[in-house]
Amino acid sequence: MEKEINIFKDIEEIAEHAVEIWTGHAEKSIKKSGRFTVALSGGSTPIALYEKLSKVPTLPWDRTGIFIVDERFVPYESNESNFGMIRRVLLKHLSIPDKNIHPIPTLNLSPQDAAIEYEHEVREHLMLSNDDIPIFDLILLGLGDDGHTASLFPGTPALKEASRLSLFVEPPDKTKKTRISITLTLINNARNLIFIAAGKNKAPVIKEIIEDKSSTLPAAMVRPRKGKLLFLLDKDAASLINIK
Ligand code: 6PG
Repeated sequence: MEKEINIFKDIEEIAEHAVEIWTGHAEKSIKKSGRFTVALSGGSTPIALYEKLSKVPTLPWDRTGIFIVDERFVPYESNESNFGMIRRVLLKHLSIPDKNIHPIPTLNLSPQDAAIEYEHEVREHLMLSNDDIPIFDLILLGLGDDGHTASLFPGTPALKEASRLSLFVEPPDKTKKTRISITLTLINNARNLIFIAAGKNKAPVIKEIIEDKSSTLPAAMVRPRKGKLLFLLDKDAASLINIK
């Protein structure tokens, strides 16, 4: 597995660098297949990147397909909606065709059906043949202090799922909303996976997932089968790691 760790002063620097990486992947993917397909995370860390991307109208947005890594089962207007945030910060500032935007459905269906529907949506747009696992050009991942990524939480059955691409998940913390998440099967099939993490509170978990090969944390189970794994960290999140 190809793995790289880049460390920056702060989240602004990470975001600047990530725009360059995004631009490079977009060019390469479009040259190869005519399109660039990405899955975006929610949470607060990627907001700086989305703000910067929203100011680059010259990127090939008409050929960029946007999917969502995970979603809280709430309307898009809710402050807790990942798609709501991504639409507000990024998409509404760009002229990107509606057909290129693929939010996880959260209205008029059950979370179980939403997960199934999203799986169909991903298959339809990325499919090669019926049994193949779709390949995203790029997936952006965040990281929780407890080692969760997407909405894959430590010790939950979702981590063992081998065939589904998207699942309905009840977070172990009962105060958290029901979620829909793409699975490790789909994540680990991507061409490029990027973790973005900033802040001291992420340092212990960053150390574990980078240095402890036996870690069972969800983020440590992100191991691309053929693709490349890149960590974009600020100096606080990287402060405990020895391999730099
Ligand atoms: C979410 C994502 C989650 C997120 C991490 C980090 O919707 O919140 O499921 O995986 O990326 O919890 O969140 P922060 O970037 O806010 O620290």
